[in-house]
Amino acid sequence: MNNFKFSKEEIKHIENIKKRYLDNNSLLIPVLWMIQEKEGWISEESMAYVGELLNIPLSTIKGVASFYTMFNKKPKGKYQLQVCTNVSCMLRGAYELFEYISNKLGIKNNETTPDGIFTLEEVECLGSCATAPVMQVNNKDYFENLTIEKVDELLEKFKTHLVEK
Ligand code: FES
Repeated sequence: MNNFKFSKEEIKHIENIKKRYLDNNSLLIPVLWMIQEKEGWISEESMAYVGELLNIPLSTIKGVASFYTMFNKKPKGKYQLQVCTNVSCMLRGAYELFEYISNKLGIKNNETTPDGIFTLEEVECLGSCATAPVMQVNNKDYFENLTIEKVDELLEKFKTHLVEK
């Protein structure tokens, strides 16, 4: 049974953006993006739902979802730790930080802790080279001028926040 569904508001939003596109195929990327925003990843059942909604074959949707690396094909942790290892960050210890987090959490690049709290990702320049080394969390929050101590504090904060919820 397919449990994925857009809400009435989301369907309305899709109807609105539809007016800007020539056909449903062009709508696919924004709609897949909506799924990812809602669920954190693109499941097979959500793709099947979109296939029916937009009248697009499932094979086409799978092809698009797997072509773009920005779409997550499996669930991510509650906190996605995106550590930049590009030049400025690398020169200021990003690889040491990455190693430290990896050892502390017991996960490698693109892996998620068994409790589903953290996913660790090595990423390219986050555009904040002057405050290297930098880590982005969940594609939006920046943590800059990082040190091992700051990372320890942050990880603790994330865990505690999770407990309080
Ligand atoms: S190199 Fe890391 S933010 Fe630019």
